[in-house]
Amino acid sequence: MTLSLTRRSLLIGGAASMTAKPVLAHEMPQKMRLSAATGTGGGASAAFDRDRFVEDCIRAHLETDPVAAVREVLARAVSRPGAVLAGLGEPKAAGLDVLLSSPSLTIFAASWTPQMNLLAHDHKMWALIGIYTGREDNILWREGDDGLEAYAANCLFESDVATLDASAIHSVTNPLQRFTGGIHIYGGDFFATERRQWDPETLQVEPSDGDVIRAMFARENERYAKVCGD
Ligand SMILES: [Fe+2]
Repeated sequence: MTLSLTRRSLLIGGAASMTAKPVLAHEMPQKMRLSAATGTGGGASAAFDRDRFVEDCIRAHLETDPVAAVREVLARAVSRPGAVLAGLGEPKAAGLDVLLSSPSLTIFAASWTPQMNLLAHDHKMWALIGIYTGREDNILWREGDDGLEAYAANCLFESDVATLDASAIHSVTNPLQRFTGGIHIYGGDFFATERRQWDPETLQVEPSDGDVIRAMFARENERYAKVCGD
């Protein structure tokens, strides 16, 4: 199934220009390719087994094209978003539920609070995102002569899978009034790798790593608790 690109994907001319046009298939950014999951369905009745999923990803990662093979495993899983949600649990706070942390492969379920924003950041390794509840909007950025500039956007709905190559830079927004949950897979040690992030207002680059991300999630949960009046 091909996604409706006019709804979910567009190119933008730069950080200051939001004039957009739909992306044609041959024009889609190589850094992030979307496809609808092509699983055979089955609804939420078939259980999602997190250990089995991790085993399948590890096995796929040994194949000749590990990104494509792992992506296939992820797409198959999120093609039954209800089953994944039942298996991983309803998101209740911003955070990362780590399924696997190893030198060559990291897998976690990321939960975004309603309307949460995650500033532009890189990964230094290939990444896959598969959404099982809610929606995640991605802005894709690149480094130009004048610094960071936005050049594309993708909206990921339930069952959508995105691939980002090792040089990709993206920022993330949950536009919904409810939580978004996605399985994120990285071709390396996500938590131990020194990465970069960019201040959302000044676009000044800053260092990032697992500790920085954890602190960011803690602040987000404080913000959300205040919004909710808890
Ligand atoms: Fe990311």
